[in-house]
Amino acid sequence: MEKPLLQVKDLRVTFNSRRGEAMVLNGVDFGIRAGETLCVVGESGCGKSMTALALLRLIPSPPGRITGGQVLFQGEDLLAADDARMREVRGNRISMIFQEPMTSLNPVFTVGEQIGESLRLHAGLEPAAAQARAVEMLKQVGIPAPERRVHEYPHQMSGGMRQRVMIAMALACRPDILIADEPTTALDVTVQAQIFDLLRELQRDKGTAILMITHDMGAVAEMADRVMVMYAGRVIEQGSCEQVLSAPAHPYTRGLIACLPELGSSQEATREDLPEIPGVVPSIWELGSGCAFRARCREALPRCASEVPPLVALEGQGHGVACWLHSQAPKLRARTEELA
Ligand SMILES: Nc1ncnc2c1ncn2[C@@H]1O[C@H](COP(=O)(O)OP(=O)(O)OP(=O)(O)O)[C@@H](O)[C@H]1O
Ligand SMILES: [Mg+2]
Repeated sequence: MEKPLLQVKDLRVTFNSRRGEAMVLNGVDFGIRAGETLCVVGESGCGKSMTALALLRLIPSPPGRITGGQVLFQGEDLLAADDARMREVRGNRISMIFQEPMTSLNPVFTVGEQIGESLRLHAGLEPAAAQARAVEMLKQVGIPAPERRVHEYPHQMSGGMRQRVMIAMALACRPDILIADEPTTALDVTVQAQIFDLLRELQRDKGTAILMITHDMGAVAEMADRVMVMYAGRVIEQGSCEQVLSAPAHPYTRGLIACLPELGSSQEATREDLPEIPGVVPSIWELGSGCAFRARCREALPRCASEVPPLVALEGQGHGVACWLHSQAPKLRARTEELA
């Protein structure tokens, strides 16, 4: 089988504060193949953005620190790469749409200059060609009057427009991997559909792999080839979109999906956010021993309080879950090589 373009192994991130050190990511494993979309879901604070940021070594440090693991991009460990190599990779081979667009747009440059800059830097385009391509990109993400808008500054645009500028910037270099952190949350349904078409086109033409973080299960059903569910800094389930949405194995995933109106039954019903499961995610400072979900889990076993369940492979190819209810599953400690 084709090897993943990106293989993340046992990724660990800690944060320091006056309260001590906390594990924000605790052994995250996954892989993505060329042309594939992996959607990452899970409640607020479970480590989705930290996972995305860690891949590009953009964890704010201090207080954060990558304390272990590997991020293999075409076999090369990015966690061991030097700064020059990382600059080459960022925005060119792997680009990212950030959750907060304002933090990554520079207020003193026009949007055209900002889209054009990465094209000049990475693709070696002349200024005029870069500008023309910036206009083309703005048009592709559905910004009206792109010839005029290209000269505007970020503050002259609405939140939705800025989000689209971010998407244009991330797509301009036609990256091998696109990391998109809630890319369409601020956009209305029509624009979202347009962006998804654009992403699919890039995947078809260039084989771009997409890691998409989203709260929108409708977007998951529409875009995902594979789904990864996170809880308190760990991957608790992963599998194909079909496996995770139709045969969820973890009580947490089942909870997320059971609360949803029938997926795919109507446009309206698929546009739901992640529903509520009683209780809250424990703070990373309060993670005791055992499974982090146990306090909210109706099916918890005595063992769940003392031991963290390892990810085990289920019967369906590529489907894995970290839950003691499945401890009889055949392969203990299944890793992504076996799961992807
Ligand atoms: N600067 C920081 N200092 C300490 N802890 C932090 C810091 N930034 C994030 N965290 C912690 O890291 C954990 C993971 O955060 P992350 O931003 O990855 O969550 P998320 O899954 O992206 O959530 P959301 O859906 O709200 O975007 C959270 O529990 C948060 O408390
Ligand atoms: Mg986030």
